[in-house]
Amino acid sequence: MCGIVGYIGKNNALPKLIKGLKRLEYRGYDSAGIAYFKNKEIILKKSVGRIANLEEKINLQDESFIGIGHTRWATHGKVVEENSHPHQVGNITLVHNGIIENYLPLKKELQEKGYSFKSETDTEVACAYLDYLLEKNKKMPFTEILKQAANTFIGSFAFVILVKGIDNQLFVLKRESPLVIGIGNKEFYVASDFQAYLEETKEYFILEDNDICQIENNALHLYREGKEIPYKTNILEDNISSPSLNNNKHYMLKEIKEQSVLISKWNKIYLEKGKELPDITKYKRIDIIACGTAYHAGLIGKYLIEKNTDFEVNVYVASEYRYQKVHLNKESLVIAISQSGETADTLSCVKLAKKNNAKTLGIINVYNSSIARICDEVIYTNAGIEVSVASTKAYTSQIYILSLLAQEFSQQKIDKNTYTTLPQKVEKLIEKDYTKIGRQLITKKDVFFLGRRIDYISMLEGSLKLKEITYIHSEAFPAGELKHGPISLIEEKTPVISLITDKTTALKTISNIKEVKARGAYVILIIKEGIVPTLDKTIYDEIITLPPSDDYTMPIISIIPLQLIAYYTALLKGVDIDKPRNLAKSVTVE
Ligand code: F6R
Repeated sequence: MCGIVGYIGKNNALPKLIKGLKRLEYRGYDSAGIAYFKNKEIILKKSVGRIANLEEKINLQDESFIGIGHTRWATHGKVVEENSHPHQVGNITLVHNGIIENYLPLKKELQEKGYSFKSETDTEVACAYLDYLLEKNKKMPFTEILKQAANTFIGSFAFVILVKGIDNQLFVLKRESPLVIGIGNKEFYVASDFQAYLEETKEYFILEDNDICQIENNALHLYREGKEIPYKTNILEDNISSPSLNNNKHYMLKEIKEQSVLISKWNKIYLEKGKELPDITKYKRIDIIACGTAYHAGLIGKYLIEKNTDFEVNVYVASEYRYQKVHLNKESLVIAISQSGETADTLSCVKLAKKNNAKTLGIINVYNSSIARICDEVIYTNAGIEVSVASTKAYTSQIYILSLLAQEFSQQKIDKNTYTTLPQKVEKLIEKDYTKIGRQLITKKDVFFLGRRIDYISMLEGSLKLKEITYIHSEAFPAGELKHGPISLIEEKTPVISLITDKTTALKTISNIKEVKARGAYVILIIKEGIVPTLDKTIYDEIITLPPSDDYTMPIISIIPLQLIAYYTALLKGVDIDKPRNLAKSVTVE
């Protein structure tokens, strides 16, 4: 989603802005722009496509000590320069992340007052509205104008603003969309997340909803609920550093490979040092809410908790849950799973849960993120910074935590040995060659994923991975559901990937595989070693055997080949693996 940066200080803002934007590239974007003061004038540069295109337009001889920048992920209007940020109307130039929901009535009101618009965006309307308020209240401090605008704007926003005529200050206003301010030596950095300026400063503070900031070269004024208040900074741990590829072609591959090392790290934290997890057994109802990959982890969590208890867990897609009737009270627990901790839908569900007196527990990767900050309790997944838009290591970290919670819930004795041998098992699967399978898939229109019970959930995730980075249509089906409709899609050489790790249904799934094979499917079978006494070799074209493990750890093993099949297929297709088209890493709008 959109990334915002801002800089004010003693150094040239231009390289700082470009660097910050590059660090936010991972969030996903389709155009970029910057604006800065030069001789009291505001210079504006924008470009569609990559930041490299923007850099070509910038005169690096220019020197400025105050500027703003933006990477846009289109919400209102096409990917064209007119719609990209910064937007400029009259004396206001700004960048925006979020959505102004009431922009249409505001636009009409402003058009009646004589404003005309060049873009299709809600942001230009917000920009014009601020200009209108400023024109109307020339003597009013700009922070007051921002307060008035915040009362009018409905929706989510993080704005960083330059005002012509106030060339030594940067203004900030935020509600719901995340924004942090990094504090350097007589300089301030503004960004959608602290990764933008990790190398510049480790001292930062996070803005709360409706905060307004007026930032000068060596002073920052924070206004909350109409009053100026002192701001308290946090210091990031020293070991958090900017991610690098470490000789890998893509972050996705690097992050897939990291999983074996990370499992050892998690084993140290939870099994050797015995870090305690919150007690979730005291609740009468547990709802898990999440989106995308994190939702799939939630489904695995439900499966593992219910496996050895009579307790029923509910799992919901956050964008649905936030609008449905909820059945929560003080005896309920809502578990929010999120890598970024910023997903707008998941965040709103946590707020909803709190409003209904439920307790909230976040399973979150990004430290101090919005969801982490508002949950009653947080388990950090310790997967490190995940750069690739397609989530891999964050998913396994979520399953790891859920597997432990599930065993504690059902008072199972955790088999430490199974966890200790997990890294080697994962490592061996990472080392396998998946290019032959990738070659089979690249030319295909559709790929189908089959599994039963927990394997069906893993296939939902496998299918999501494949479609998001290869752009090949794929769907996951419960194997038994095939003959109720989807089997009509199977033609000669249609790829069908099937996963079998669940002993109770293994033979049933094999029968379903035979059904697709009989109709010409190209079957890629991923199967747990020794799960069936004899395996008929004619039912598959390719086979990947998985090392045995228990039910709690098996979904961590079985997802590895699926992640790598997606990766190598995308590699052979030559697409932009780390930044798939249209996708964003941190989904901060509904
Ligand atoms: C897919 C993927 C997304 C995210 C989803 C939720 O690879 O990464 O489906 O899982 O957007 O994001 P978080 O976990 O940040 O809330």
